[in-house]
Amino acid sequence: MLAERMANARTQTDALFDILAPDALYDRPVAERHRIVFYLGHLEAFDWNLLGDHPVHKEFDQLFAFGIDPLGTGLPTDQPRDWPTIEEIQTYNREIRSTIDRLPTDDLLWNVAIEHRLMHAETLAYMLHQLHVDKKLPQPQLAPPKSSPRKSEMVSVEAGSVVLGRSEGFGWDNEFDAHTVDVTAFEMDRYKVTNGDYLKFIEAGGYEEKSLWSEDAWQWKQGITRPVFWKNLNTYRTMFQEIPLPLDWPVYVSHSEASAYARWVGKSLPTEAEWQRAAEDSPIGNAGFHRWDPVPVDSGMIGNGWEWTSTLFRPFPGFKAFPFYPGYSANFFDDQHYVMKGGSARTAECLLRPSFRNWFQPNYQYVYSGFRCVTR
Ligand code: AVJ
Ligand code: FE
Repeated sequence: MLAERMANARTQTDALFDILAPDALYDRPVAERHRIVFYLGHLEAFDWNLLGDHPVHKEFDQLFAFGIDPLGTGLPTDQPRDWPTIEEIQTYNREIRSTIDRLPTDDLLWNVAIEHRLMHAETLAYMLHQLHVDKKLPQPQLAPPKSSPRKSEMVSVEAGSVVLGRSEGFGWDNEFDAHTVDVTAFEMDRYKVTNGDYLKFIEAGGYEEKSLWSEDAWQWKQGITRPVFWKNLNTYRTMFQEIPLPLDWPVYVSHSEASAYARWVGKSLPTEAEWQRAAEDSPIGNAGFHRWDPVPVDSGMIGNGWEWTSTLFRPFPGFKAFPFYPGYSANFFDDQHYVMKGGSARTAECLLRPSFRNWFQPNYQYVYSGFRCVTR
């Protein structure tokens, strides 16, 4: 079972490298992040640093150990020639895979390795999304579903309690402990905010209206005029194509862009607990790697894009870091990251569990995340 899940996760990440045109591996599609080549070595180095019992290649074990979270202290300056060749990395990867596969499986550590890889299957997709379409080999795609006529409306959620976190089974350190939170009554958008909705906000001048943005967000936004997935106000960049802006797809924006819109319509972003309460028993739609891109917003609540919450990423009561990976969450309890819930087309099924928490900085536009608004 674990071996089979590991094999499936490897198939997913291997497939991502296969969409690259031959000269693209050393590109850096997102200025703040590593070149793509880092991720080719990172997944195996991570697995080996976690599961291995002797050094395979000390230099690579370290070179590929850590990704980078943008620190706002300047951009990375490394050059393609600073990195090993594809062949060297593939040799390293093959050796690690075959060695790991001969070791006994440990339930907790293997879940960590499998889910770490699956999370990168998504974060690597964000990165490859930003590569120019000429640098990718188009993949087979499911036909887009038709959208039914849709009223944007809000649904009432009664006051009550909701359980956050989990008490048993596999979860990351930040999912523990389970605890009950009381939520007062609120109304929540039935559907995620669409590109069409966000276009109205931009056309009405809200994107340039200083009073709708926090001071930090306004500083960040200087020089940015639209969501990063929009080539311009008429054209959208999907993974492999440029298409007319799909008005009924969820808009993917940063937390700051989402918050400004919410303020413009006189609403707010939901808290993590509100989102969780509203999501109970919601159907899943468009997740699990079946598509590369979103579908219209009426396709099921969980999936089709993460959703930003107003909740800072902080530990739950009783939090204990995994001793074998102390920084996974704790390095980000800095009040500079917000919780996202749900999942996207490129989120693995196992990560759609209600207790899973994702997080990013508020000014990071590249994630497959949109939002719904609430009134209280
Ligand atoms: C949980 C998606 C925010 O990519 O920054 C991967 C996951 N941590 N390798 C990230 C992660 C280390 C993390 N997120
Ligand atoms: Fe990682």
